[in-house]
Amino acid sequence: MSVIAGMKNLFSKIRPAKSQSGEDSAVGQTEHREPVGQEESAYISEPQNTSIDPHDITSETSQEEVAVAAAEPEVKSKSSKKDLLPPYDGPVLEVRNVHRSFQTGSRIIHVLKGIDMEVNPQQLVMLKGRSGSGKTTLLNMLGGLDQPSSGDILFSGQPLQDWGDRRRTALRRREIGFIFQAYALMPLLSAWENVELSLRMADVPRSEWKDRVGHCLDLVGLTKRVKHRPFEMSGGEQQRVAIAKAIAHRPRLLLADEPTAELDSKMGAQVMAVFRNIIEVEQVTICMTTHDPTILEVADHVYEMADGRFIK
Ligand SMILES: Nc1ncnc2c1ncn2[C@@H]1O[C@H](COP(=O)(O)OP(=O)(O)OP(=O)(O)O)[C@@H](O)[C@H]1O
Ligand SMILES: [Mg+2]
Repeated sequence: MSVIAGMKNLFSKIRPAKSQSGEDSAVGQTEHREPVGQEESAYISEPQNTSIDPHDITSETSQEEVAVAAAEPEVKSKSSKKDLLPPYDGPVLEVRNVHRSFQTGSRIIHVLKGIDMEVNPQQLVMLKGRSGSGKTTLLNMLGGLDQPSSGDILFSGQPLQDWGDRRRTALRRREIGFIFQAYALMPLLSAWENVELSLRMADVPRSEWKDRVGHCLDLVGLTKRVKHRPFEMSGGEQQRVAIAKAIAHRPRLLLADEPTAELDSKMGAQVMAVFRNIIEVEQVTICMTTHDPTILEVADHVYEMADGRFIK
């Protein structure tokens, strides 16, 4: 299935659900599912949908997979954000001696070689380093998309590696927003509908959508573009829709993999100004990767990576 066919397929599933029934439950039907983890969590009492969702997207995930993911049936959960993470005053992320190796054939590639870092609430932290130094590998682990070969990652004090698949999926859906270099927007949906989709996926009650979508698009300065589809917007505007989409469900942490790489310096600066603003207004914490030396000064802290380690 081509990317466009995948999007049209998604669109055809979403539209009838809205126009015929006015209900928000029937996003689409597909059989695609991942196995559910075995361990039970003290905090999650309801079965979770562990299939891919838009918050599970890695930079390698194709637009088609994104479309399929968004068309997944929803499984409602009674557990709340409060149930998922107990109150904690410390760092949003604590990373301790994290290693990650990959096996390709008979070779083992040691990509991360002992990473220690901390990301505090409402900080803007940047990971910089040459291509292949391990930035995306680390970011994926911070978002619970991948797991260390050894070492610990604590999210608001909770050790992610001790969590089961269901609880990690719930964490990604509710507490983390992902932003990518290539925007990852649904091309057939308007800016408004793209942001709304994020609320639908996070089980936010429909009665809250209008205010929240309007607020998020306002925060990124796009109140005049709400009806535009991605192809009718500039790269910078598309990335700002992607930011509105990523923060709509009020995540604690925003992870962004080279969010300004496709943009010219003016649009890149606009995106960074939006990041600074949402840290203030939404009390979100941001960790991002970049190659761009001109935006580093906006960061509260910069970690420089070289060959799987931080340079002191
Ligand atoms: N699943 C995998 N299997 C094998 N090797 C991998 C895998 N994922 C990443 N790597 C290797 O790990 C190294 C670091 O990759 P990574 O994508 O983290 O780099 P990066 O710093 O994000 O680079 P870029 O700036 O180009 O995005 C690369 O050599 C890559 O080939
Ligand atoms: Mg990368």
